[in-house]
Amino acid sequence: MIKAVLFDMDGVLVDSEDLSIEIGIKYFKSKGYEAKKENFLSHLGTGMADFVLGAAAELKADDVTVSDADSYYHEVYEKELESHHIAMSGAEEVLRNFKAAGMKIAICSSAQRWKVEANIRALSLSPDFFDIVIAEDMIRRNKSNPDIYLMASAMLGVDLSDAIVIEDSPGGVLAGINAKIRTVALTTTMSREEALLSGADRVISDISELAEIKDAISLEKYLFGIADKEILYGASYVKSTGLPVRMEVINKCIAKALEARDNAYSPYSEYKVGAAVLSASSGMIYCGSNIENSSYGATICAERNAITTALTNEGSLGIDLLVVASDDYPPAPPCAVCLQVIAEFAKADTLVILVDTKGRKEEYLLSSLLPKPFVFPTMRKS
Ligand code: THU
Repeated sequence: MIKAVLFDMDGVLVDSEDLSIEIGIKYFKSKGYEAKKENFLSHLGTGMADFVLGAAAELKADDVTVSDADSYYHEVYEKELESHHIAMSGAEEVLRNFKAAGMKIAICSSAQRWKVEANIRALSLSPDFFDIVIAEDMIRRNKSNPDIYLMASAMLGVDLSDAIVIEDSPGGVLAGINAKIRTVALTTTMSREEALLSGADRVISDISELAEIKDAISLEKYLFGIADKEILYGASYVKSTGLPVRMEVINKCIAKALEARDNAYSPYSEYKVGAAVLSASSGMIYCGSNIENSSYGATICAERNAITTALTNEGSLGIDLLVVASDDYPPAPPCAVCLQVIAEFAKADTLVILVDTKGRKEEYLLSSLLPKPFVFPTMRKS
């Protein structure tokens, strides 16, 4: 039962990341350095010191100090807020609805207190609307350490299993996971791919997705109802050894699926498909192409060929990622028969990436392509 919602602030309740980067670029310029957006991107969500010193290290700006940057930031940020509307759409409604539903509401931000307070004003709320407001001044070890979320749960007197964390950055998601609190990742700062691979328990687009939810049970259902569906997937999913699926692995799978497409045997349809599956237990990538037959019905799709190759090699299989390559737009999804086979070895939240030969790509969760796979009664997990 969700009794407390622990919100990160920047990128979740307020859209301040762009403004922060803009001010960062101006600040470094005032010091004689040409900073770019990219210099800041990987230092978001982990506090001012990381933000400034991370970018400074990339720019070799040794003379930059956190306190100097902070006073510059403070002045410019407050001024910019007069003309920028940074409240995320739906944020105020979500906060008011959750509070009215009796859930405790906490802000858990790595930002400076002045910034957190300015952001709260931008939401048209006052600090005492919140049950607690944690800022940088209350914590020693910043996100991705779990401290901030452990502290919030302790202060609220709520069990970790009764809290949820809402985050937008990889470091923030890790802080929630490290605290062993169910963590929701938004795709406001991270790409959908990054968010899906961040380890978060659930990925949603932004806070407005929760604006219609008026009670804790509906929130639980909306966010984690997918867990009920787990019993329908992965009859034989073999667990991951915990190897993270990194972006270079994704790119490798895409390249291999495209390569496999070249080897398709499809003289009848002249429609070539390639597939690559990433084995969760070994990290190996297995490929397949579609193989047609004079007797059309004997044709086997690329996805099933990739899966049988993986099984032949490993004896068991858990799919952490599936890529399907075609020369179609939008890129072709697996057919219904293949989806049923994929579901046997994958999970509801297994990432399926569809690509075409021009590099265009679409990403789905298996559960959105196949919401209700058939699972034989004795194989159901209950
Ligand atoms: N095909 C696949 O390889 N995968 C799918 O999921 C859909 C269809 C192939 C089968 C056949 O060789 C060709 O595409 C046209 O149906």
